[in-house]
Amino acid sequence: MVTALLTATALLVVLNVVSLTAGSGVRVEGGQPCAARWYNYSSFVCVCNATYCDASPPRPALAVGGIAHYTSSRCGQRLTLRLHNFTDATELRSGAARLRVDTSQQFQQMLGFGGGMTDSTAFNIRALSSATQQHLLRSYFGNSDGSSRYSLVRVPMGGTDFSVRNYTYDDSKTPDPSLKNFSLQPEDIEYKIPLILAAQRLAGNGLKVHALPWSAPRWMKVYNGTNGVSWLQSKYYQTWADYFAKFLKEYAQLGVDMWAVSLQNEPSSGSVANYGVNNMGWSAQWLRRFLEDFLGPTLRSDSSLADTDIIIGEDLRDYLYWSEEILEGEAAQRLTSAVAVHWYADSFTSPTMLDDLHRNHSDLSIFYTESCYGPFMGGGYPAVRLGSWERAENYTSDIIQVTNHWTSAWEDWNMVVNTEGGPNWIGNYADASIVANVTADEFYKQPMYYAIAHFSRFVPRGSRRVKLQMDADANSTDVESVAFLTPQDDVVVVLQNKQGTRRSVVVSDPQLGEASLSLPAHSMHTLVYQRAGNTV
Ligand SMILES: *[C@@H]1O[C@H](CO)[C@@H](O)[C@H](O)[C@H]1NC(C)=O
Ligand SMILES: *[C@@H]1O[C@H](CO)[C@@H](O)[C@H](O)[C@H]1NC(C)=O
Ligand SMILES: *[C@@H]1O[C@H](CO)[C@@H](O)[C@H](O)[C@H]1NC(C)=O
Ligand SMILES: *[C@@H]1O[C@H](CO)[C@@H](O)[C@H](O)[C@H]1NC(C)=O
Ligand SMILES: *[C@@H]1O[C@H](CO)[C@@H](O)[C@H](O)[C@H]1NC(C)=O
Ligand SMILES: *[C@@H]1O[C@H](CO)[C@@H](O)[C@H](O)[C@H]1NC(C)=O
Ligand SMILES: *[C@@H]1O[C@H](CO)[C@@H](O)[C@H](O)[C@H]1NC(C)=O
Ligand SMILES: *[C@@H]1O[C@H](CO)[C@@H](O)[C@H](O)[C@H]1NC(C)=O
Ligand SMILES: *[C@@H]1O[C@H](CO)[C@@H](O)[C@H](O)[C@H]1NC(C)=O
Repeated sequence: MVTALLTATALLVVLNVVSLTAGSGVRVEGGQPCAARWYNYSSFVCVCNATYCDASPPRPALAVGGIAHYTSSRCGQRLTLRLHNFTDATELRSGAARLRVDTSQQFQQMLGFGGGMTDSTAFNIRALSSATQQHLLRSYFGNSDGSSRYSLVRVPMGGTDFSVRNYTYDDSKTPDPSLKNFSLQPEDIEYKIPLILAAQRLAGNGLKVHALPWSAPRWMKVYNGTNGVSWLQSKYYQTWADYFAKFLKEYAQLGVDMWAVSLQNEPSSGSVANYGVNNMGWSAQWLRRFLEDFLGPTLRSDSSLADTDIIIGEDLRDYLYWSEEILEGEAAQRLTSAVAVHWYADSFTSPTMLDDLHRNHSDLSIFYTESCYGPFMGGGYPAVRLGSWERAENYTSDIIQVTNHWTSAWEDWNMVVNTEGGPNWIGNYADASIVANVTADEFYKQPMYYAIAHFSRFVPRGSRRVKLQMDADANSTDVESVAFLTPQDDVVVVLQNKQGTRRSVVVSDPQLGEASLSLPAHSMHTLVYQRAGNTV
């Protein structure tokens, strides 16, 4: 009796799982749909709370020739899943852009995707109930159909503007060159570290955590404190390197081994008058000297820190020439493993700058380590726009653009802000992919969250970008695209249609045939299929 009932129920569930719908492919039902809420912007957010959070339906095993097709769109979808098959060319729509996948041409290996564990992010998460916190952490770090599967976390060393106070790890009243008064703060011990440990547990062993400073303590600096025009006094270069080492060791002792450190956040900004953000000014030559003569030797000569990667850059794309200048030093070149870029100037600089950097330094990785929207990007207040599709579209465009130009990691700035876009001690509010509303014990997954997830969930570490050749008619060349091959031998193609009308594309794989897809207005897509004909 019980068995019969169970069978009947199971049958109903099975019947419910795949249902034919109009349009191409078969829609897979199930999972937890987005609990949509509209504010005053172009699209909606998905609301999660202590008892509910959206998740895509589980993906059925794919036969060779089967395609899992995830879609998010301005008008209604969030990572919804359809199944297609590669078919004969005869069924193809005329006038579609043809995208040819060529896995024999491979480019950079991907490191991952992630976001910033700022003080504000940690405060916002910890202010939610523990059940809601779990949903939030799983949304970013879990290994499930409801997760972005983030594999990178960027951690500020001490205060940034996204803190509730300005501080460093040694705010002694008088110079303290031996760093006797150095200490991690409650922000680290009670907020950021427990969350990073929780994220590590959810993500498995793959989470890579890296750190960088915004400012040295005031007593080490020439002129101003944390946030005026200021720079490091040359007599404290070694002290500053020791400060990095102390930070790395204390984090390691508390269970967080940093994979990498960067020299400085936005080093060019510390020479800008009246710039309110915590910062410290450098020139390329000073950075090179600090790296070659102080930080490099300090880390490399300490057995517990010797394998810490060193990242330079951490500034806008139009400051890449600073990195080139640093890399003129032979020792600097040997010590550096990556150049980090922030996205804020991408709309008015050319991505070919990344190609040039890669051509000159092909052994170095290029990472995007900070991106967000805020009043400083133009458009004024409010900083947080709940449901803005344009912001998500531009995230997707940027990720497609820079991964097509040798970038192997892409990170968001604050993982979580409050509904105002903070907290931020200087009022420099910004938007984020997740916005927490502590009063309601709920959080909102912005369209930007899905934009990143279209990549991060499907492109695991070790994937390689592969050639995706568009030969198109005049109508669909405005579809944006990039393709990867994962270590599991899946091909992942990400597409975006930013136009106000539908676009048709044909994805063509030499081993499997062709698949015709119709991309609605303002939509983003991830296709996953097994590579065939791997004749070994
Ligand atoms: C949580 O969200 C679900 C789905 O939207 C809703 O049904 C439920 O009432 C919410 N719970 C609370 C406490 O708001
Ligand atoms: C794909 O092909 C398989 C095998 O022929 C078939 O069972 C399945 O229904 C097809 N799926 C779609 C979405 O057409
Ligand atoms: C291309 O777009 C134009 C204008 O929207 C349309 O008239 C034409 O039919 C399209 N061509 C194809 C081949 O789809
Ligand atoms: C040590 O640092 C703390 C802040 O962490 C500060 O309040 C205290 O005054 C400092 N001690 C000295 C001797 O400067
Ligand atoms: C924090 O900022 C205020 C105002 O800009 C400044 O007076 C103070 O010295 C700063 N604190 C530190 C630790 O630099
Ligand atoms: C300190 O910073 C302020 C604000 O950026 C700037 O106006 C001032 O010139 C700086 N002081 C010195 C001595 O550089
Ligand atoms: C690459 O090297 C060339 C020749 O050394 C130099 O002119 C160019 O500026 C470099 N590219 C970048 C992005 O700096
Ligand atoms: C998105 O990018 C486009 C092209 O650079 C730009 O015109 C538009 O203003 C951006 N949208 C937002 C919300 O910034
Ligand atoms: C946050 O929650 C409070 C309490 O439910 C509500 O009044 C407020 O409108 C919410 N804010 C947003 C941006 O939804």
